[in-house]
Amino acid sequence: MSRDLDQQAIDVLRQNDRGGFTVPTARLYPYQWNWDSAFVALGFATFDSDRAWRELELLLEGQWANGMVPHILFRRNDPDYFPGPSVWQTPSHADGGGLFPSGGISQPPVLASIVHWLVQQDGNIQRAARLFDKVMRWHRWYHTDRVPNGHSVVATVHPWETGRDNCPDWEIGLSAMEIDPDIGVYERKDTDHVDPTMRPSKEQYDKYVTMIKFGRDHDWDQTIITNDGPFVMADPGIHFILLRADRDLLALAKRLDRADAYSEIENWIELGVAASDTFWNDDVGAFTAYDIRSGKRSDGFSNASALCFFADAGSEYQRGRTLENMRRIQSKVRFMMPSWDPDAPMFEPQRYWCGPVWPQMNHIIAKGLNEHGEHQLAETMRMDFAVLVEQSGFYECFNPLTGDGCIGAHFSWTAALWLAWASPRNNAVAA
Ligand code: DGY
Repeated sequence: MSRDLDQQAIDVLRQNDRGGFTVPTARLYPYQWNWDSAFVALGFATFDSDRAWRELELLLEGQWANGMVPHILFRRNDPDYFPGPSVWQTPSHADGGGLFPSGGISQPPVLASIVHWLVQQDGNIQRAARLFDKVMRWHRWYHTDRVPNGHSVVATVHPWETGRDNCPDWEIGLSAMEIDPDIGVYERKDTDHVDPTMRPSKEQYDKYVTMIKFGRDHDWDQTIITNDGPFVMADPGIHFILLRADRDLLALAKRLDRADAYSEIENWIELGVAASDTFWNDDVGAFTAYDIRSGKRSDGFSNASALCFFADAGSEYQRGRTLENMRRIQSKVRFMMPSWDPDAPMFEPQRYWCGPVWPQMNHIIAKGLNEHGEHQLAETMRMDFAVLVEQSGFYECFNPLTGDGCIGAHFSWTAALWLAWASPRNNAVAA
């Protein structure tokens, strides 16, 4: 059974390979996505190390002159996706953009961690050395351009930047903003490809497009967007992933003998550790999202809250309360870890980030739990993911109550994490 699934997972990755980079799934997401590619590299690494490195090298071809690595790279136009390059209108290469059109926002910076894990696995320090300065520049961008004036925490300017697109966490920022009356008429494509009840609403899309229009109207000036954009929240997901990635970048710098980088990265880690407290919501007993403008905190436990272990952040008390929440949630679902608290308002087990289990999140949450001695819960998350794949196939995400697959099928990161983590025959380095 698992041998067949290994082969099927390899086939999914091969089918989604567009010549050195991988699309998350055909039609619904027909381009290269940032954090998808990083996780996909772990899957390729189990059977084709060169191809794993290639995925990351091609991702960094999209890097902007300011250091940002965009969330989507539009290598070629594909009318099956909205909003495509003609909507984003990001700068050309000559004007500071990457080698080809892209989105104008970033995505969770898991890349440094993946590079570090690949080097641990195959020892290919030459390939890592060629990426190192680019990854440094991306982290520098996060720690400067994405920190609003007068604040000490990295912000996010679009729910898509967090990767947790329509998580109820973003309702605070979304409800405080207006839809720009000039966004015009547009045609969504996602709802042609998959069940619309699993995707974000029309109102949410109008706001997503409003944010894109703001960026476009300001020539994608990231300082203006971070300080004056329509949506400025702080995401525990980006925060914890960046803090962990800073730690892994430091380990990588040491492996590569890049002493020139140590103190800058150490400073980022210090700032990240200190900023973790700003996410703490004692009423919920968790690190939650908050709106930088109003100071309002989200009141739900998301799977990003559970990343404090991965980041090695928070006090013993904070991590203890986080674990209490995770055990309470475990008693409510068949499959861990839902993206939103089943006891909180707006939980929907099949709608994108309002409830489903996400393979890539499970993987890094479990990694953090293992590193903190919580082996049983970590193993539950790995086994739950394995059963989900065995039961439903390589879906983008899964209903935590029934295990049904949701949204995209033949999904690259699911196949990759099956190979790198859940398969009994895996060559995992990151497990
Ligand atoms: C989408 O189109 O839903 C993507 O998640 C945006 O990054």
